[in-house]
Amino acid sequence: MTTQRIDRISARAYQYVCEVLRSEFYGSKSAGMMTRLEQAFARRFGVRYAISFINGTATLHAALAAAGVGPGDEVIVPPLTMASTAFSVLHAGAVPVFADIDPRTWTLDPASVAERITPRTKAIIPVAIYGLAPDMDPIMELAAAHGLFVLEDDAQCFLGTYKGRLVGTLGHAASFSFQSSKHMTSGEGGMVITNDPDLADRVRRFGSLGYAAVGAGAGKISKHDIQDPGYARHVEVGWNYRISELAAAVALEQTERLDELVAWRVEMARLYAQAVDGVDWLVPQYVPEGYGHSYWTYVLKLARDDITWHDFRRVYLELGGEPFYGAWRLNYLEPAFRGRKFAAYQWQDFEPGLCPVAEDVQPRLIQLPTNYYDRAKMEAQAEILAKTIDHFGR
Ligand SMILES: Cc1ncc(COP(=O)(O)O)c(C=O)c1O
Repeated sequence: MTTQRIDRISARAYQYVCEVLRSEFYGSKSAGMMTRLEQAFARRFGVRYAISFINGTATLHAALAAAGVGPGDEVIVPPLTMASTAFSVLHAGAVPVFADIDPRTWTLDPASVAERITPRTKAIIPVAIYGLAPDMDPIMELAAAHGLFVLEDDAQCFLGTYKGRLVGTLGHAASFSFQSSKHMTSGEGGMVITNDPDLADRVRRFGSLGYAAVGAGAGKISKHDIQDPGYARHVEVGWNYRISELAAAVALEQTERLDELVAWRVEMARLYAQAVDGVDWLVPQYVPEGYGHSYWTYVLKLARDDITWHDFRRVYLELGGEPFYGAWRLNYLEPAFRGRKFAAYQWQDFEPGLCPVAEDVQPRLIQLPTNYYDRAKMEAQAEILAKTIDHFGR
């Protein structure tokens, strides 16, 4: 990589936003950003349908509902993820069942998934945590054997690969987020992709107020459709989860530059990896052979008992490092879950002990940011990591 810096949001985004503003939001003068975004996204992922949303939580809710997930159903999720994965299951009226993670990749462990399947299980949401795909083949085999719907939560994984295939094309549908920290952003926004036309139709209607005139490839309704007083416009109960044209304009520019944006993150991860090379007390997320990590963040597990997470962070910041996050608390240990029972679903206690591997890993994770587009700044951050390691002793 020879370029010294790039813009996170380029001049083309400003042009697209201006196109929208010039339309004054009249349907008849529309710049058609939502459709252009969906077509560009579908093309890049090589899928038939891309349906845009207001965020990457609405996407999960809509995809679950469209797959028929509802009250009385169980959906298997990992606990090491942002809360929306589990919340979306509750939004759909079902209950999340937490399966444990793999001790090295920190993604959903297929063996734990197998143990959690019951006659009420309806779906699985594997999460490509930090930008790394879970081991999807055994998950898809379990799903096929039990007739389950698999929804990839790829909010943190753009252009990651699994055995030569793009992450997002492995399950029955996939969900992405365009929230401000993600590989591509429009401030807020999201996308569902799938090759299944019936599912795509239902996803669209669910997020577009159940309008009859919308469907898999048609996101907009025209006045012609809806001005007739006798027109039956709502064929289903739906939510208003549509992306705005302004957000779609920015997301279109980001989709067009997605390869470049991801490459800078992967490069930042490479620089961090060089800095930790040979250090046995900082363990990076393990990337199995045949996987392409997209590095939404570069994550290390602190494996030394004489240094706390807070000690490490204090020294890193003192040396000029940018603040980094720890991993979110496991979902079931958040106050929203802990000690609660949801609906008819009573057998799983949301208490410590449910997922022992995740409970061991989560408090030790150091999530170093990869969201840099300036070579000098990136090298400086990697150097600060190296100096922090030297401070504690290699
Ligand atoms: C794994 C995961 N799932 C879902 C979401 C929800 O996306 P959004 O913030 O766009 O609603 C996020 C990110 O924010 C996430 O990281």
